[in-house]
Amino acid sequence: MKQAPIGVFDSGYGGLTVLKELLKTLPKYDFLYLGDNARTPYGTRSFDVVYKYTLQAVNYLFDQGCPLVIIACNTASAKALRNIQMLDLPHIAPDRRVLGVIRPSVEKVAEITKNGHVGVLGTVGTVVSESYPIELEKWSGGHVKSTVQEACPMWVPLVENNEIDTEGADYFVRKNIKNVLEKDPDIDTLILGCTHYPLLENLIRKYVPPHIEILKQGHIIAEKLLDYLARHPEMEERLSRGGKVDFRTTEAADNFTGKASLFMGREVDAITVSY
Ligand code: DGL
Repeated sequence: MKQAPIGVFDSGYGGLTVLKELLKTLPKYDFLYLGDNARTPYGTRSFDVVYKYTLQAVNYLFDQGCPLVIIACNTASAKALRNIQMLDLPHIAPDRRVLGVIRPSVEKVAEITKNGHVGVLGTVGTVVSESYPIELEKWSGGHVKSTVQEACPMWVPLVENNEIDTEGADYFVRKNIKNVLEKDPDIDTLILGCTHYPLLENLIRKYVPPHIEILKQGHIIAEKLLDYLARHPEMEERLSRGGKVDFRTTEAADNFTGKASLFMGREVDAITVSY
């Protein structure tokens, strides 16, 4: 059987925060990362557009042979994953799998929260889709009693423009955290429901009281994928091994590598692709 890498897709750089954790937890597998940097951000785009772009990316990764694709982007997971799994996969590739980041995050939240009061931070698209409250209701076994959400539209541009340690970042993080805490002062668990937000963690922690658990997704997705592969040996044996990572972007490769190195904490090489 021909083995192939695990595909990891994001609208741009953000999914690298997830990839980094996947590499730590699943170092023996090969990965193919695709960032749609030419059309990022997805967070402000309509349902139809995010669905179309995400399906194109999934098809590209399937064409490269990936038997399993992780959609590392919350916005794409919120707006496209369900349609792809239910409507497209049965026709285009019934033997392959596409997994997202929301369901595993929600399962983790249900394990962590003690009082069932949860806060979600995400892009406008993720928040408006209501995916987190709906999935928390469905998968937390009645454990989550209240979910409040806060869209943080300035956070992605702050990270993308390397403005993490600035007064501007401080202002917007303080403002959004204040808002979410006002919506429900009892939250004990706060999900960073966007790929970029872990890079603002220090600032977020400054304004979030210490008794509130802040959940970053990268580690959660990696743990859940490990568990998934243990339960699905028929998929596991289709994955190639060797620890290689291949970076592809829809933008100019030079533009990608600089910022990607910031996210990965090491130098990366990339090639430009179109589909
Ligand atoms: N990757 C997106 C997410 O996790 C953030 C960047 C974007 O808006 O495209 O929601």
